[in-house]
Amino acid sequence: MAGHPPQPSGVSGPHDWLAAADLIDWSAVPRIDVDTGDAPFCRWFPDGRLNPCHNALDRHVQAGRGDVAALIFDSAMTGERRRYSYAELRDEVARVAGMLRGMGVGKGDRVLIYMPLAPEAVMAMLACARLGAVHSVVFGGFAAPELAKRIVDAQPVIIVTASCGLEPARVVEYLPIIAQAQAIAGSAVPRIVLRRPQHAVTLDPAGEHDWHASLKNAQPADPVDVAATDPLYILYTSGTTGTPKGVVRDNGGHAVALAKSMQTVYGARAGDVFWAASDIGWVVGHSYIVYAPLLTGCTTVLYEGKPVGTPDAGAFWRVVRDYGVNILFTAPTAIRAIRREDPEGSHIAAADMEGLRALFLAGERADPDTLQWIERQLGVPVIDHWWQTELGWPAIATCLGLGERETRQGSAGRPVPGFDIAVLGPDGARLPAGESGDVAIALPLPPGCLTTLWGNDAGFVSTYLAAHSGYYATGDNGFFDADGFLHIMGRSDDIINVAGHRLSTGAMEQVVAAHPDIAECAVVAAADPLKGHRPVGFFVLRAGAEHDEAAVARDIVARVRAEIGPVAAFREAVAVPGLPKTRSGKVLRATLRCIVDGQPYTPAATIEDPAMLSHARDALIRAGIAQAPLSQEDSA
Ligand code: COA
Ligand code: AMP
Repeated sequence: MAGHPPQPSGVSGPHDWLAAADLIDWSAVPRIDVDTGDAPFCRWFPDGRLNPCHNALDRHVQAGRGDVAALIFDSAMTGERRRYSYAELRDEVARVAGMLRGMGVGKGDRVLIYMPLAPEAVMAMLACARLGAVHSVVFGGFAAPELAKRIVDAQPVIIVTASCGLEPARVVEYLPIIAQAQAIAGSAVPRIVLRRPQHAVTLDPAGEHDWHASLKNAQPADPVDVAATDPLYILYTSGTTGTPKGVVRDNGGHAVALAKSMQTVYGARAGDVFWAASDIGWVVGHSYIVYAPLLTGCTTVLYEGKPVGTPDAGAFWRVVRDYGVNILFTAPTAIRAIRREDPEGSHIAAADMEGLRALFLAGERADPDTLQWIERQLGVPVIDHWWQTELGWPAIATCLGLGERETRQGSAGRPVPGFDIAVLGPDGARLPAGESGDVAIALPLPPGCLTTLWGNDAGFVSTYLAAHSGYYATGDNGFFDADGFLHIMGRSDDIINVAGHRLSTGAMEQVVAAHPDIAECAVVAAADPLKGHRPVGFFVLRAGAEHDEAAVARDIVARVRAEIGPVAAFREAVAVPGLPKTRSGKVLRATLRCIVDGQPYTPAATIEDPAMLSHARDALIRAGIAQAPLSQEDSA
C-alpha cells in the first residue's frame, strides 16, 4: 500500500439537511434532521409532516405559477402532444385521487401501476401521493410472472393500467398480461383501465373500470397530510436472486433530497424545462420525470418513443428544440444508438437547441468514446453520474449547480454532498486511492435513499448492510483516483445492465434451469456495443433429453421472454457438454464472460476440466457469437 496517496475522504463536506428542508412546504416543519435511534435503520425528518403532491403541484399554483407548463407529453408513437399547466395538472390529479378514493383507496394502501408513458400514469402516481397511498409502478417490458411477483409482495388494493403500450413494431396488450399475472398471484383486485385508441378493449364489468368514465363522476380530493417517514412508493429492482427487491421510499426525505439535487447536481431552477428520457417504470422516471422537476417548479417532458426509429435518430433533438429543453438526462445506450444511425451528428447540427445547458448520463457505464462524441456534437457539458434505484438520486456526479465543471475520463465524478462514499477492502478498511474495492456508503444514508425493503427489514439488512459494518454496500466495485474522482468498474454480483435496464442473470438462470431438458446452465453478460451488456446462456442437455440442442435453445429464449419479459433481450443460448467449474463445483462465470468477449483469460488453477473452456468457445464460434478463437498462448 505504500506509495499510494491516501483515499480521499469521499465526502464533499457536511450537509445541512434541516436547511435543505426549507425547499419543501411542511404542515409540520421538522426540527430534527435524522433519528438513528433504531440503527442501522434511520428516519429522516421524524417530526415532519407534509404532502408530496401538494409540494409538486398545489404549492406552485398557490404561488401564482398556475399557468406555467408543468407537464408536456410528446408521443413519437402516435404524434400526440399535450401540455398541462400546473393548475390543470393539479385539477386532473385531484380528480384522479378522488376516483381512487371512491374505489376505496386510502392512506397506506398500495396501488400497482402498469402503464405506458402516458400523462395518466404520472397522474396516477401523484394521485396516490395526494392520498398518502403507496404506488408501485411496474415497467411495461416485464412479463406476467414478474408482474405477479410484485403483486404478491406489494398486495395492491387496485391496479391501474391501460389497454396497451406502444412499441415500434407492435402493440403491447396489457390486459392479458395483467390477467395472467393476477391469476398467478391469486389476486382478484379491480383494475382501472385507460382505454387507448390504438387498442380498443371491452371491459369486464366484474372487475374493470374505465378510466374516463370513472373520472367523470369523481370528486376532487385534497392532499392528505402524511408523516415524513410514511412510505411514498415501492419500486422493485433486480437482485441477485429471481425475487425482486421492493425498495421503499419515504415522503419527507425523498422530497427534500430530490429538491436539493435539482439545485446542486443539475443546476435546475423553477421555469426550466427538464427532460429525463426514461420510463416511469425505472427510478430515473420516478425521480426525474415525475417528482424532482415538479417539486422544483420546472416543466417536465414525458416522451413516448425511442431515441432511434421513431422515426429517426433526430427524435431526441426535435423534442429538445420543440420544447426548449434546458437539461436532458438519458442513458448512454440511447446516445450510442443515435450515434450508430447518425455518426456525423447531422440531426444535431440541424436542430436549434439554444436552451440546452447540459446532458446527464446514468444507468450504466458511459464509455468515454461515446461521451466525447456527444459532447463535441452538442457543445454543452456532458455529465456522467452514478446512482442506483436504492439511492433514489445521484451519489457521484460533477455538480453543475455547485459550479463544478471538472470531469475525468472514465469517472462518474466525485461524491455528491451528503454521501460519505468509501472504497473498502475485504476487511472493511478504506483502501488507498488507486486501489479497487467495494464501493460503500457510510451510514446513515442521506435522505431520499431507501429506508428498507417492503415487508422485509431483515432482507434489507442482510442484502445491503451486512457486508461492511456501518456501511451500505452498493454492489459496485470501483476506486478513487488521487483527486477524489470515483471510477466505477462494474458490479460484484450477477446484475447486468442491458440498454440501461437493470436485470439479474441469476433470475434468467432460474428460468433456463427449469427447462425439463436442461441439466445445468449459466447466463453471463457479454459486452454489447449498443446495449452495454447482453445476456448469453450456456446450457447442458440432460441425458435422454427429449429435444435437440437447437430446439432447446429456441425454447429457452422464448421462456425467458415469457417469464421475465422482452426487456431482458435474451436471444443467445448455446449447448455445451459441461460447464467450466472449479473442483469445488463453482461455475467459472468470469472466465465464460472473457470467452464470450474474446478477451484473454487465465484458467483457474482449480479448474475441474480445462477442456470445458474450449468447448464453450467452440460452441460460441459455431453459433456466430464469438469471433476469433483464442489460442492458449493468447491467454494471459
Ligand atoms: N413495454 C413492452 N415492451 C418493451 C418496453 C415496454 N415499455 N420497453 C422495451 N420493450 C421491449 C421492446 O419492444 C423489445 O422487444 P422485441 O424483442 O420484441 O424487439 C425489447 O423489450 C428490448 O427493448 P429495448 O431495450 O428498447 O431494445 P431495442 O433494441 O428495441 O432498442 C435502444 C434499443 C437502445 C434504442 C433502447 O434500448 C433505448 O431506447 N434505450 C434507452 C434506455 C433507457 O432510457 N433506459 C432507462 C434508464 S435511464
Ligand atoms: P439502477 O438501479 O437500475 O439505476 O442500476 C444501478 C446500477 O447501474 C449501479 O449499481 C451501477 O452498476 C450501474 N450504473 C448506474 N450509473 C452508472 C454510471 N454512471 N457508471 C457506471 N455504472 C453505472
